[in-house]
Amino acid sequence: MSSNGIGRLTGKVAVVTGAGSRGEIIGNGQATALLFAREGCKVLLVDSEEENLSRTFRKISDQGGEASFYVGDVSNELDCQKMVELAVNTYGHLNILHNNVGVGGSGTVVEVEAKQWDHVMDVNVKSMMLTSKYAIPEIASSGGGTVINISSISAIRPRGLTPYTVSKGAVIALTKAMAVDHAADKVRVNCILPGPIFSSMTSVNMTEEVRELRRISSPMGIEGSPMDIANAALYLASDESRWVTGISLIVDGGVSLMSPQR
Ligand SMILES: NC(=O)c1ccc[n+]([C@@H]2O[C@H](COP(=O)([O-])OP(=O)(O)OC[C@H]3O[C@@H](n4cnc5c(N)ncnc54)[C@H](O)[C@@H]3O)[C@@H](O)[C@H]2O)c1
Repeated sequence: MSSNGIGRLTGKVAVVTGAGSRGEIIGNGQATALLFAREGCKVLLVDSEEENLSRTFRKISDQGGEASFYVGDVSNELDCQKMVELAVNTYGHLNILHNNVGVGGSGTVVEVEAKQWDHVMDVNVKSMMLTSKYAIPEIASSGGGTVINISSISAIRPRGLTPYTVSKGAVIALTKAMAVDHAADKVRVNCILPGPIFSSMTSVNMTEEVRELRRISSPMGIEGSPMDIANAALYLASDESRWVTGISLIVDGGVSLMSPQR
């Protein structure tokens, strides 16, 4: 059942990773899970933090949507295998994998510790390979579907977050490789490059001044919301994008067109 949606994902089953929210401010993964459920999709919510996950589960239940959840770490192969098995055992098939989990990583190559570098690559890149490794055969045997990977405009406009930038660049390359590899299985693979979104992750300790600077970094002068990312994901998850694969969809209010000094 869906409330308010028009059923753009009716009959579909999705796994959304990082579907929780660190507090009352909505996260990108949370917004996407809520929108998918509103559009009639059955959603398996995955997050390493049960408390974060329960916020999303409650919101979907309150809006009359259908969801279940799995507490796990997407950089752990066994957790990735189990979450896909749970989705298929619970709902009978799988059509959409939304790879939303990502962590920050700052510093230059001179400053970064090798251990921190590995952690960022594990959580931001290896995790997408691991979730896809188990999800793609199920999506293919369900008649086809989509994988959506969350990158960042940091991949195309670096600013002192080199481990993060490199990991998000790898997500773009991974998306293109997967799109080619799995097209014959009827699995489309696309990625989204969000700009500065006021989200569960970025709002932590953000001053009003920084928030304002982020807003005016867009030539539109509009602050990005997790719902902007969710709406892009909905298009890529739905059959409306049936001839779209391997793309990097920038959703940033034009921020990447501007000089960072503005
Ligand atoms: N917010 C922005 O401005 C912005 C900009 C560009 C890209 N992004 C990307 O958007 C994505 C999500 O953003 P968000 O604001 O929802 O972030 P978030 O930090 O709120 O993440 C959502 C959830 O991911 C979970 N998580 C973290 N590591 C995990 C792991 N290893 N396994 C399972 N769950 C894990 C967290 O517990 C959290 O509940 C990330 O990939 C991020 O890089 C965000």
